[in-house]
Amino acid sequence: MIDIVAISGSLRAASTNSALVVALTANAPADCRVASYGGLGRLPIFNPDDEGERTPREASDLIDAVTHADGIIVSCPEYAHGVPGGMKNALDWLVSRDAAVGKPAMLVHASPRSLYARAALAEIMRTMSFVVCEDTTLEIALLGKKPAEVEAILAEPVNVLAMRNAVKVFAAFIRGQT
Ligand SMILES: Cc1cc2nc3c(=O)[nH]c(=O)nc-3n(C[C@H](O)[C@H](O)[C@H](O)COP(=O)(O)O)c2cc1C
Repeated sequence: MIDIVAISGSLRAASTNSALVVALTANAPADCRVASYGGLGRLPIFNPDDEGERTPREASDLIDAVTHADGIIVSCPEYAHGVPGGMKNALDWLVSRDAAVGKPAMLVHASPRSLYARAALAEIMRTMSFVVCEDTTLEIALLGKKPAEVEAILAEPVNVLAMRNAVKVFAAFIRGQT
């Protein structure tokens, strides 16, 4: 069984990225377990003085989740041509640890735009020593859709298949790293 943690970079209640993450948890292939990480909004703002013994519990929970996962999936919006602060903050808590080193990661996209954030995230995560999977691109255009529309789009057989295939490709990528 491959264990994957999926993180949405949006805190919005009606977030399309969070909806995509939840759909991935429901549509993973049989040999993969995708769990959604929901602690982004509870993380304190990263401060290097608060590492080591002073690491807050919320940050330890994130570090443990990433450490124990075989790989992570990130679905993140773009704000002002950049990575939203909440997502960057979560990544900052992982910088000076082993959690990210050699950890397979895949970006998925709920917006057909967000090209700056995609590039920035890939650069940040590679710098942190994540191994970013580029064997497939999952992009489901949910930008600007209302929750009922989002649910309907994510339930379309073509999208269910696309999600399952993307996780399958990522799982093969993870197996190839070990
Ligand atoms: C403050 C703010 C800034 C944004 N800036 C951009 C941007 O620079 N480029 C872009 O493509 N979308 C931008 N957007 C649109 C969001 O990326 C888009 O609505 C995304 O789907 C939101 O994700 P969510 O539904 O998961 O919250 C911005 C949205 C907000 C709220």
